Amino acid sequence: MTDHPPSPRELLTRWDDQQAAYIAHREARFTTMLDVLRLYLPEDFTALDLACGPGSLSDRLLSAFPRASVTAVDYDPLLLRLATLVLADHGDRATTAETDLAEPGWLARLGPGNWDAVVTSTALHWLSPGQLLNVYSELAAHLAPGALLMNADHLRYGPGFPTLRALAERHDEETQTAAFAAGADTWGDWFARAAEVPDLAARSAERERRFADRPPQPLSGLDFHLAALRTAGFSEVGTVWQYLDDYVVFARR
Ligand SMILES: C[S@@+](CC[C@H](N)C(=O)[O-])C[C@H]1O[C@@H](n2cnc3c(N)ncnc32)[C@H](O)[C@@H]1O
Repeated sequence: MTDHPPSPRELLTRWDDQQAAYIAHREARFTTMLDVLRLYLPEDFTALDLACGPGSLSDRLLSAFPRASVTAVDYDPLLLRLATLVLADHGDRATTAETDLAEPGWLARLGPGNWDAVVTSTALHWLSPGQLLNVYSELAAHLAPGALLMNADHLRYGPGFPTLRALAERHDEETQTAAFAAGADTWGDWFARAAEVPDLAARSAERERRFADRPPQPLSGLDFHLAALRTAGFSEVGTVWQYLDDYVVFARR
């Protein structure tokens, strides 16, 4: 694809372009999340980034808040390796760890951590409703009162909203068509590009093995997320940003 293997930062930029093809206002989501963190927490807060991918959100957070620190976790060995390489630019303020959110007990296995905030983007839709409720419940049981959680993701309109559902799907198609025409990688293209880096290619087979028996889940709606968060023990459950079916969900412990 290129005459030299891409650097970690080049891969992160291509990742951001690829993800923006599927999420029209991805940067607006991130800006909202960073604003909430800035307005709510002291400058030296600690955050947990669930399903961090190549470190996209953690990198933005650590750049925006020079005294904050992040634990970034993911189950994909290739993406987590890239996150480790990218986030090394932030020194010991960044820690990465392998975590399978689908496995009960995932948070205890991460070890102790006094996180002021839990953030996640475009990721929890990989989990079944039961797994999602478990993730929220483990967090609620562990986090100190006042800690906050924000989840940015597409949450599809339910069967009661056929018009909005169709509009959102049409908007997604438009966004993808424009982004790919402008040169963004598709999901598959991006992983082919990442496999040009020997250190990452070495992790491809394990990545495929881990996700082989995990078919895409039907997307949960906003109502399910809000109810699951309340059931888990969070309060002030609501949203801080929305564009069509794309949301940033907020909850406070
Ligand atoms: C679309 S990527 C989003 C990455 C990043 N948060 C971002 O917004 O750029 C979804 C991420 O969820 C991770 N993921 C999926 N299932 C997971 C699980 N059971 N445990 C941990 N991470 C998981 C994938 O490996 C991938 O990194």
